[in-house]
Amino acid sequence: MTTAVRSFGLSLPDYPWEAMAPYVAKAAEHPGGVVNLSIGTPVDPTPAVIQDALRAAADAPGYPTVHGTAALREAIAAWFARRRGVEGLDPHDVMPTVGSKELVAWLPFLLGLKPGDVVVRPTVAYPTYDIGATFAGATAVAADDLDELDAATRSRVRLVWVNSPGNPTGSVRDAASLRKIVGQAREVGALVASDECYAELGWGEWDLQRGGEAVPSILDPRVTGGSHDGLLAVYSLSKQSNLAGYRAAFVAGDSAIMANLVNSRKHAGMIVPYPVQEAMRVALGDDAHVQAQKDLYRGRRERLVPALESFGLRIHESHAGLYLWSTAGEATWDTISRLAERGIVAGPGVFYGDAGNGYVRVALTGSDERIDAAVARLAETA
Ligand SMILES: Cc1ncc(COP(=O)(O)O)c(C=O)c1O
Repeated sequence: MTTAVRSFGLSLPDYPWEAMAPYVAKAAEHPGGVVNLSIGTPVDPTPAVIQDALRAAADAPGYPTVHGTAALREAIAAWFARRRGVEGLDPHDVMPTVGSKELVAWLPFLLGLKPGDVVVRPTVAYPTYDIGATFAGATAVAADDLDELDAATRSRVRLVWVNSPGNPTGSVRDAASLRKIVGQAREVGALVASDECYAELGWGEWDLQRGGEAVPSILDPRVTGGSHDGLLAVYSLSKQSNLAGYRAAFVAGDSAIMANLVNSRKHAGMIVPYPVQEAMRVALGDDAHVQAQKDLYRGRRERLVPALESFGLRIHESHAGLYLWSTAGEATWDTISRLAERGIVAGPGVFYGDAGNGYVRVALTGSDERIDAAVARLAETA
């Protein structure tokens, strides 16, 4: 191969999860088998009602619609009204996406961001926000408030990622906090994209089914000041409906930007398959399975929290979502190693930015049997 050919390819960092292999191997030596709580991949079955919808739409000889079927877009608008307090969303301002990860990675490029532009992402964050900035040649900057930026950087901000409930920390922004960052972004002419994929999984004061408040969307009227200008909400059915394998997600918001995104996608593809569009439509109309799944996670969380605490971890934030953001007050890898000795794999906080050092992320995505095994092992004296 010539040197010129070797120079092809993006210079992305190695995929960080490869670094976990030795700890997974260590944990697998446990006689009771590994309990892998490192990745937030759903383990419970895809609800039958959704599987049936997928099967019923299996005859799909023609190309699917990029913009989404009218029925799906109406289901998304109805879901926003019913579940997120966002009334009157125009089904035109909605588009299904092949998963959220794909949208997160490609959005800066699709928005036409360029070298010199700044993408702001949360201080401790899902790593794909940085990758998306890199794809567009833009610069990712970590901040939770635009006041943290110097004036020169602030003037270059074109896109602000908000992630509430957050991965990995489980922090939740209330309506006032969202309104503040929207105001700051509008002041500098930047767009706010809000990744809300854990919105249905609020705990404590955000647990709607236990007397709490619903996690607010960026499109909530308390946040928007009555206009969706410059705002995009990104949502995924992976977590709420155990649909990670279907790649079922959507984006909604600013009318002009949505029209531009739909047009770009007509040229570029990345179309959501018709059977998946149908599965999404049915899933978004059925709240019962979301409730049942949330109850499973609540049970696992209630068992894991005291067990992790008895092991010497303190749980920070974790007000919503699928993770317990935990620290033992030591370096991340020391905790990862001690957990691996008990046959438990957790996610290293350092994968989410420098501010994640000292933390591990423990996912609730284990079967009840595996969670109970973890709880028993955490209680053992060393
Ligand atoms: C914050 C955040 N955004 C997006 C995603 C991706 O979800 P999807 O399955 O829709 O690609 C995840 C998945 O873990 C996530 O944690």
